[in-house]
Amino acid sequence: MTTARLKDKVALITGGASGIGAGVAAVFAREGAHVVLGDLDVEAAERLATSMREAGQLATGVRLDVTSRASIDEAYATIERLVGVPDVLVNNAGISTVRDFLDISDQDWDTMMNVNVKGVLLTTQRVLPGMIERGSGRIVNISSMAGKQGLPRLAHYCASKFAVIGLTQSLAFEVAAHNITVNAVCPGVVRTPLWDDASKGILNDLEGEKGWRSFVDGIPLGRPQSAEDMGEACLFFASDAASNITGESMNVSGGQQVH
Ligand SMILES: NC(=O)c1ccc[n+]([C@@H]2O[C@H](COP(=O)([O-])OP(=O)(O)OC[C@H]3O[C@@H](n4cnc5c(N)ncnc54)[C@H](O)[C@@H]3O)[C@@H](O)[C@H]2O)c1
Repeated sequence: MTTARLKDKVALITGGASGIGAGVAAVFAREGAHVVLGDLDVEAAERLATSMREAGQLATGVRLDVTSRASIDEAYATIERLVGVPDVLVNNAGISTVRDFLDISDQDWDTMMNVNVKGVLLTTQRVLPGMIERGSGRIVNISSMAGKQGLPRLAHYCASKFAVIGLTQSLAFEVAAHNITVNAVCPGVVRTPLWDDASKGILNDLEGEKGWRSFVDGIPLGRPQSAEDMGEACLFFASDAASNITGESMNVSGGQQVH
């Protein structure tokens, strides 16, 4: 019998109510973690946590806006009270929009950077002191293959995901002496609401299925990724197996991105 690899661990997953975050939660809960789904959409977070508990897993939903220190403080206090100090933080909450370069407005830029980059900074700043005090911790940031390769009409998104990799590397050096690892997972393409939400999904601005095919055709391993693929990669970084790996940015893209 294999041992649950995250037994007795508390894992905070931002944006845990949907898509990749929900996939990470499923894998972590399978491995015995108490998963905290921190999401702007608290109803969805609580719904998912309830169904996980009904399946015998350990899960809690909390309201969390990664762009607001006040919201993060409030969520963190709730997590400490109900579940304990997080051992693992997965900075997954993120957004995307499609814009021609000349059409990227101040608001487009600021919103993207606030959620995708500042959100990682603020959430990590709240969680890190508890990890330092304990002398251990695992941080996994969700970047993207768009964090390693620029893509047309996605300059603001790509800039935000490149920034996540820079932050990951810098923080990895800074906290290594505290036995805290900081790594990034770079997904390729996962069909989530980020793509196909009726109002906000990026396929609305990418010619729908034609746009989807342009991203998935030619993936060397022959299929788009699943949210659980990302969960397995996050599990690796969160588990003892990766205890000597930090500052890495691992592609999970079926070979679409290899550097
Ligand atoms: N889906 C893909 O193909 C893909 C590829 C590469 C990277 N990513 C990255 O993966 C992460 C998850 O994407 P997804 O596809 O699962 O998206 P999704 O839209 O399905 O889920 C994102 C979740 O984040 C939450 N969220 C949004 N803003 C928030 C905020 N301010 N505070 C807290 N929660 C917030 C949303 O409510 C939602 O539950 C993002 O960082 C995204 O950039 C996705």
